[in-house]
Amino acid sequence: MTDHYCVFGHPVNHSKSPMIHAAFAEQTGEDLEYSAIEAPLEDFAGAWKRFVAQGGKGANVTVPFKEDAFRLCDSLSDRARRAKAVNTLILETDGPTQNGRIRGDNTDGLGLTRDLAHHRVTVEGARILVLGAGGAVRGVLEPLLQARPKALFIANRTPEKAVQLAEDFRDLGEIAGGGYAEVEGRFDLVINGTSASLGGTLPPLAETVFAPGATAYDMLYGAEPTVFLRWAARQGARPLDGLGMLVEQAAVSFQLWRGKRPDTQVVRERLRQLLDEG
Ligand SMILES: NC(=O)c1ccc[n+]([C@@H]2O[C@H](COP(=O)([O-])OP(=O)(O)OC[C@H]3O[C@@H](n4cnc5c(N)ncnc54)[C@H](OP(=O)(O)O)[C@@H]3O)[C@@H](O)[C@H]2O)c1
Repeated sequence: MTDHYCVFGHPVNHSKSPMIHAAFAEQTGEDLEYSAIEAPLEDFAGAWKRFVAQGGKGANVTVPFKEDAFRLCDSLSDRARRAKAVNTLILETDGPTQNGRIRGDNTDGLGLTRDLAHHRVTVEGARILVLGAGGAVRGVLEPLLQARPKALFIANRTPEKAVQLAEDFRDLGEIAGGGYAEVEGRFDLVINGTSASLGGTLPPLAETVFAPGATAYDMLYGAEPTVFLRWAARQGARPLDGLGMLVEQAAVSFQLWRGKRPDTQVVRERLRQLLDEG
């Protein structure tokens, strides 16, 4: 019998997740359908309930519902609990005690670290600057710190949020936070986790922020490099966008649902090709 999965978002018609999961299913021989559902802004829980009533087995969750999804869960992975955000819902149906319980996970961070590994970007021992202190950044801090960077600084437009985030993750490694004016020195890896690129805005950074051989990573992706990546390339940094992160986080979700790890390389290439074709 065909199992049903979906991505919930608002808006969601731009989502590449149905295409990614269809490719994973075909590749692994899993019998599943994956759709995109625009949930009403004020009733995410209702949308999930209706989906389950129609046979839904699990879902991805994107903007703006990751915190609603977090509140809906009966149990959480450690990384989702720390992130206070869930991007993967799993309906647990095995065993009499689990029937219908909702488990939440957050695969964004592993998606990022797998993508960095794919591009051979070394996190261990690196000086990392993370821009932004929203849901996406909260989701990636644990796996980044577990990869043991030398130091990690979070810079945010609203400095208090960065300070609080650093406080929340302090037990995992050398981490501090503040405003852009407090960014000091050069970094081996600068990750843009703000939504500034969406509006074509550049976070206020000094041109000297990149160490020699540094990588600039924008979680956003598109047919054209973002304004941040274009600027970073002009400063000599290696630009990488978030397309690989998207595919890798999807692969982790797929494995959580189906127990099979798909090959991401072919899907990355296909998606890039589709983006280039417009
Ligand atoms: N590739 C992937 O798989 C993936 C996964 C998740 C997210 N993302 C991307 O990551 C980005 C952030 O998502 P999110 O869910 O974390 O959003 P969010 O929770 O709304 O957080 C937005 C962050 O961006 C900052 N910001 C917004 N406009 C800014 C500007 N003009 N200048 C400087 N900072 C600005 C905000 O600062 P304040 O706190 O001061 O408001 C906040 O820190 C989005 O572009 C999203 O598409 C990609």
